[in-house]
Amino acid sequence: MARKTLEELRSQRWFGPKDLRSFGHRSRMMQMGYALDDFMAKPVIGIINTWSDLAQCHTHFPQRVEDIKRGIWQAGAFPVELPALSLSEQYVKPTSMLYRNLLALEVEELLRSHPVDGAVLMGGCDKTTPGTIMGGISMDLPMIFMPAGPMMRGHFGGKILGSGSDVWKYYAEKEAGTISERQWNDMEAGIARSAGTCMTMGTASTMTSIAEVLGFSLPGSSSIPAGDAAHSRMAMQCGKRIVEMVWEDLKPSDIMDRRSVENALVIHNALAGSTNAMVHLVAMARRAGVPIKLTDFDDFAQKVPVICNLRPSGEWLMEDFFIAGGIRGLMKRLEHLLHLEARTVFGTIGEGLEGAEVYNDDVIRPLDKPIAASGGTAILYGNIAPHGCVIKPPAADPRLLHHTGPAIVFDSYDEMSKAVNDMDLDVTPDHVMVLRNAGPIGGPGMPEWGMLPIPKKLLKEGVRDMLRVSDARMSGTSYGACILHVSPESAIRGPLAAVRTGDLITVDVTKRSIHLHVEDEEIQARVAAWTPPPRNYPRGYYKMFAQHVLQAHEGCDFDYLEGAQGIPEPEIH
Ligand code: FES
Ligand code: MG
Repeated sequence: MARKTLEELRSQRWFGPKDLRSFGHRSRMMQMGYALDDFMAKPVIGIINTWSDLAQCHTHFPQRVEDIKRGIWQAGAFPVELPALSLSEQYVKPTSMLYRNLLALEVEELLRSHPVDGAVLMGGCDKTTPGTIMGGISMDLPMIFMPAGPMMRGHFGGKILGSGSDVWKYYAEKEAGTISERQWNDMEAGIARSAGTCMTMGTASTMTSIAEVLGFSLPGSSSIPAGDAAHSRMAMQCGKRIVEMVWEDLKPSDIMDRRSVENALVIHNALAGSTNAMVHLVAMARRAGVPIKLTDFDDFAQKVPVICNLRPSGEWLMEDFFIAGGIRGLMKRLEHLLHLEARTVFGTIGEGLEGAEVYNDDVIRPLDKPIAASGGTAILYGNIAPHGCVIKPPAADPRLLHHTGPAIVFDSYDEMSKAVNDMDLDVTPDHVMVLRNAGPIGGPGMPEWGMLPIPKKLLKEGVRDMLRVSDARMSGTSYGACILHVSPESAIRGPLAAVRTGDLITVDVTKRSIHLHVEDEEIQARVAAWTPPPRNYPRGYYKMFAQHVLQAHEGCDFDYLEGAQGIPEPEIH
């Protein structure tokens, strides 16, 4: 492989020349206390840090930045930290998804406008992984993604707790009156015990696993718990490796292609990964110009057994997965389904699997003892979802996978919230709960409202699952018979807008269909008469979002950010 020369480094345009401008660039480095030989005649590596005082999953990032810098210095380059939007899944309202594209835009422009030759992207809490990677793909400088790693397992009263999943589970028990207020409070203190991302196979671990399989992280790195000393060592290795990648000129466009996307589809299914991946992977692939359709998720689901036994679909948690061999162990089991020659930041996928083993057959199941033989993901189409919608069948009560029931429709989250607490609500376990105006534009930002709470009245009767349909997303740690991402959304007059309480809806997961039992003409007439609730986005980012966001099946990127062709380097004057 031809190596870059010093003169070819991008940062040399800032620091190399002997003109007036470069005098300013160098003297201002010295203003910060750096000597010329700290930064001259070597690559400059940007470290994109999604840390803040409100990024609860990234509290170890200040230390990891130092680990990364240690690797960069060792490899003979100059590290610079560039903070970016931290996007806490918990604190950013109305939903972090509203800002994923803003982070992507920020990363792209941070890298473009600064004197850097390559970058380490630090992320993990849900949207920070696709957000940083989307920006990195578009800028197409050498980059490596450093995953935050999962937090420690949770516990209360001797029981092990998984992020998100067990909150939903025990909240239903609290509402049903089977656990006490005091137990509930104990859970609050015991469920999130350390730095790191949610330790179920929620969106965070789904996306960091996918980032690794796409080739953007060091082999095995996505499974390492945040608090493990191996995590610091991995961060240091990211720093070392990115410097080599700069000399090799190994860019995202050399790594991500249809093979890497197919590898990601295999692993997404084997993990029974979060439904959010169906938005994020589509967005990342479209940035790279790699063709992908929603039905690809379903096609791969037919071939790939769910062998990862992690909550919410299974039993265990990320630390158990790590000890059982982690993502490398899992990939080793699925070697026959993977493109082993696909490129990664390290070499090839196949090279990254050298020596990989599975140490616990219950956590990572053998192919003949899967959690589900196939079908981790199903994409349904029908007259209320012409561009598709998604369901995760293994996480649903099987009786609801073939079901007809009357709709009970809610036009807003607040309306739905009030209704489910009403002990006189006219609802049975056979009803199909429908929530609309919760899509990319309607939400706005396609909030994670798709796991509609079971009405309290039914919880008391012991009901724990119902069919639910929405144009929202749901948390990767959620479960149940939830049909999500209905596209097009109701706010842009998708046919979901036509459903009325009492209409019959049939879902047949085997046939991949969802059907509203109303004549086509009547659906059209109802949609024509429908006025979406007023959206009030008078200014700023909200306004730009509503004007440019694409629909769920297209990845919810902004129309003007897709692809990466023809973006100019800044002029330096
Ligand atoms: Fe950060 Fe779940 S809240 S990963
Ligand atoms: Mg989440």
